Amino acid sequence: MFALAHLSDLHLALAPKGIELAGKRGLGFINWQRKRKYIHRPDVLDAITRDLKARSADHITVTGDLVNFSLPGEYAWARRWLETIGPPNDVTVVPGNHDVYIHSVEEFPAKFWGDYMRGDDGLDRFPFIRQRREIALIALSTGVPTGPFMATGRLGQRQLARLAEALEQTRGNFRIVLIHHPPISPLRRYFRRLSDGAELRAVLAAKGAELLLHGHDHRRALLWLQGPANKKIPALGVPSASAAARHAKEDAAGYNIFHIDAAGTGWHCETVSYERGTDGAVRECARFRIC
Ligand SMILES: [Fe+2]
Repeated sequence: MFALAHLSDLHLALAPKGIELAGKRGLGFINWQRKRKYIHRPDVLDAITRDLKARSADHITVTGDLVNFSLPGEYAWARRWLETIGPPNDVTVVPGNHDVYIHSVEEFPAKFWGDYMRGDDGLDRFPFIRQRREIALIALSTGVPTGPFMATGRLGQRQLARLAEALEQTRGNFRIVLIHHPPISPLRRYFRRLSDGAELRAVLAAKGAELLLHGHDHRRALLWLQGPANKKIPALGVPSASAAARHAKEDAAGYNIFHIDAAGTGWHCETVSYERGTDGAVRECARFRIC
């Protein structure tokens, strides 16, 4: 039995100052002051972190948006948080759009969290592969800088081609694709979508995967993607790990743990979802099998 935890979208935020308020960060800060700072709270993340750590998962995955404005202090804060949940060998990170908020910070995720985003081959590139027992984690980056009011992501041809190779190379293992953006978005989230989601879905349909984990939407989500030979691939989203309460179209903070086991010629995977309630306590809120 392998227990894999998944959480996402911490949105650790500091206030931009002076020149940092120019452009997209300034507009984002107005939105933060008006609304988002009441949603993403460090004390909520602390409660989720404490609960998660008490469950001693074999491995933890974090699918992006660890920071909010891509300020150096935020990356350092996220680094300290990562170190509290586990060493780089036991925690895998992929970046989200808020981790590459503007062009000048493109190198920052690797600079601060590089050892949490590196494959077993030691190379700094996406996708990277981490093999833990019969679990193959295949980590993608969709974090690209975008203009104001945009939160799209993109993989690009090179990552998609390498993803196809990685899925082939790890066939026979329980292959888990880690990605910040969901592989498909409704039209109302057009400016927050993965722009080459159709190309990603085509690779998955051709090569297969046992599971895909994503963040970005701050909601619990389960959808089934087309795999090869009429098999379906479950794609699961988690809420933000720092969301104070359920509101509008977002869920209260939570995380998932997947209990994965080989079963005959296939796999058995049970998902357990945890949620922070209005009383501040974190508890199990759902349990279901995905294979
Ligand atoms: Fe995001």
